[in-house]
Amino acid sequence: MQAKLAVLVSGNGSNLQAMIDAIAFGLLPAEIAIVISSRSDAYALERAARAGIPTAVVPRKAYADNEAYSEALLEVLAPYQPDLLLLAGFMSVLSDRFVNHYAGRIMNTHPALIPAFCGPGFYGARVHQAVLDYGAKVSGASIIFVETGVDTGPIILQEAVPVYDTDTADSLAERVLAVEHRLYVKAVRYYLAGRLHIRGRRVYITPGEGGEK
Ligand code: GAR
Repeated sequence: MQAKLAVLVSGNGSNLQAMIDAIAFGLLPAEIAIVISSRSDAYALERAARAGIPTAVVPRKAYADNEAYSEALLEVLAPYQPDLLLLAGFMSVLSDRFVNHYAGRIMNTHPALIPAFCGPGFYGARVHQAVLDYGAKVSGASIIFVETGVDTGPIILQEAVPVYDTDTADSLAERVLAVEHRLYVKAVRYYLAGRLHIRGRRVYITPGEGGEK
């Protein structure tokens, strides 16, 4: 059976593209029912349109706070009844009511090894600049379930990426992004196969059929 995904974006949308490509290659038994952007100028909207996916713009700046904004998002999402919600470079914080409504059915990708370089204020290029400023030798990608609180949900998958002496925020972002794309598709594949089990803070991954990884 095909699962229905909804993807929330704010920018370039390369993680959205990874999902679109994975579906096209038959790697995910899913369809993307709707892509919602918090910005009207997000390139992610073009990627969605090119793939024939319905889009909606719900501008963050049109709402007074995260609560009002999240209510608007809930309304736009309701008719699509998504099985799984993916935050993919989505730069707004969702209200507790929103997160509780989709509890256990929202994932996010973060461009560092949580719990380092995460939480309020750590998004996009700022994360990579903070890693470089701190002098960390390793960064990475984290795929998590979203809970109330910024970047605090149970971790599904993580992978380390080395930091080189020659790195800039851009070059580090590029290497981390390549890992995010692969890891995020894998996490969604596991979820759709019913292989992810949340027990407290830990996410257990059960083996696939025939020991498939
Ligand atoms: C990704 O690196 C994602 O992890 C990050 O923004 C980038 C979006 O790229 N998200 C955050 O920092 C959220 N805290 P994309 O628009 O090309 O998918």
